[in-house]
Formats: sequence, C-alpha cells, structure tokens
Amino acid sequence: MKLEIVSFVVCLLFGFGFCSHQTCPMRSIIGCDKGFTYFQRNPTEKNNFTSEWCLGVFPQKHVTECEGREICQNLGATISMFENEEEFKEIDVNKYIYVFIDGYRMQRCHDRSSYREWKCQPLRSFQFRSSATDPTFTLSNWRADDPNYFEGKPEDEQHCISFSADGTIDVGCKGHEQINHVLCGKPPSHQYY
Ligand SMILES: *[C@@H]1O[C@H](CO)[C@@H](O)[C@H](O)[C@H]1NC(C)=O
Repeated sequence: MKLEIVSFVVCLLFGFGFCSHQTCPMRSIIGCDKGFTYFQRNPTEKNNFTSEWCLGVFPQKHVTECEGREICQNLGATISMFENEEEFKEIDVNKYIYVFIDGYRMQRCHDRSSYREWKCQPLRSFQFRSSATDPTFTLSNWRADDPNYFEGKPEDEQHCISFSADGTIDVGCKGHEQINHVLCGKPPSHQYY
C-alpha cells in the first residue's frame, strides 16, 4: 500500500512515462553468502539435480563432526562435500590441512572385518546428511592407505570423513588436533533489485 502511494507520487512528479519502467521484470543476481564460493554443478540424479551450490570452509579449533554440523546449521547450511576437482582446487584445502566433510560410515559396515566385503566398499558404505553433492569424487579420491577404519581404541573408530590435500581420509567423529575446519554448503540466494 505504502509503495503504491510512493509510486503514484513519483509518477506525478516525473510524468507517467517514467512509470512504464516499473512494468519491466525485476532483475536478479545470484550470490553466495559471505564466506562461501559459488559453483555451478552438473545436475544429475546423484546430486539431487543441484545446478548451483555455495561452499565455504569455517574454522573451529579441534572441531568434532557434530560441532561442525552445528556450525553449518547456524549459517543456514549443511555439512557438505566437494563434487569435483575444480571445487576442491578453488577452495584450496592445502591451507587447512584437514576439513570435516559430509559423510559417515553406515552401521552395517562398522565392523572392521566387513570392510573387504562388496557391500562395504567405500562407494557403498557411507551415508550423507545432504543430497546436494554427488559423493563419487570424495569416495574415489582416498589418501594412500585410507580408509583404514581406526588406529587404536574402539572409541577412536573412524566412521566420519575429512578431506586433506592428499585426499579423503576416514577419521574419528570426535576429530583430532589437526582438524580445525568444517566444509559447509548451501544453495545461492537470489537477490532481486
Ligand atoms: C531433493 O531436492 C528436492 C527439491 O529441492 C527436495 O524436496 C528433496 O527433499 C531432495 N531430496 C533429498 C533426498 O534430499
């Protein structure tokens, strides 16, 4: 209502010819929120037909996977993954050493003796919080000797995953002193003007 009055006054002041501009469709720009980088994705069934995605790395000293998810959630995002080499290079994981990413091992594959079975091969044994990323890249680029399940106590079992410059590694969900970042993702926002 207020806007209509303002428009009417503007029209009176500048002539009604000026007002015809108002019938033009609004333009929009697509942008990622602060701290996120914009990527175009190839929409497929494997990424739930996601054609645009924003990724950002956020710091938290000695973060756990659970805390990482919370950090993302507070940004209106979800814990996320790289979908391809380009995204991985652009974000430059080298700077961060290890970054918690989306993905945790399914219960049915928690038993270490199952990991050589077909159903527990890396591409078949992880679940994800978000369906917006095709996990093939992440689950095909393991660091040498990973996934290795755990090195030590049962409570250190490595059922979460993290990305490093050398590839994906399985890590304990409680993290460790070298994991100080989490990768978050969300769709871009369309701003109208
Ligand atoms: C896929 O995307 C649609 C539309 O955005 C959404 O409603 C649906 O829940 C998503 N599917 C999954 C498995 O997350």
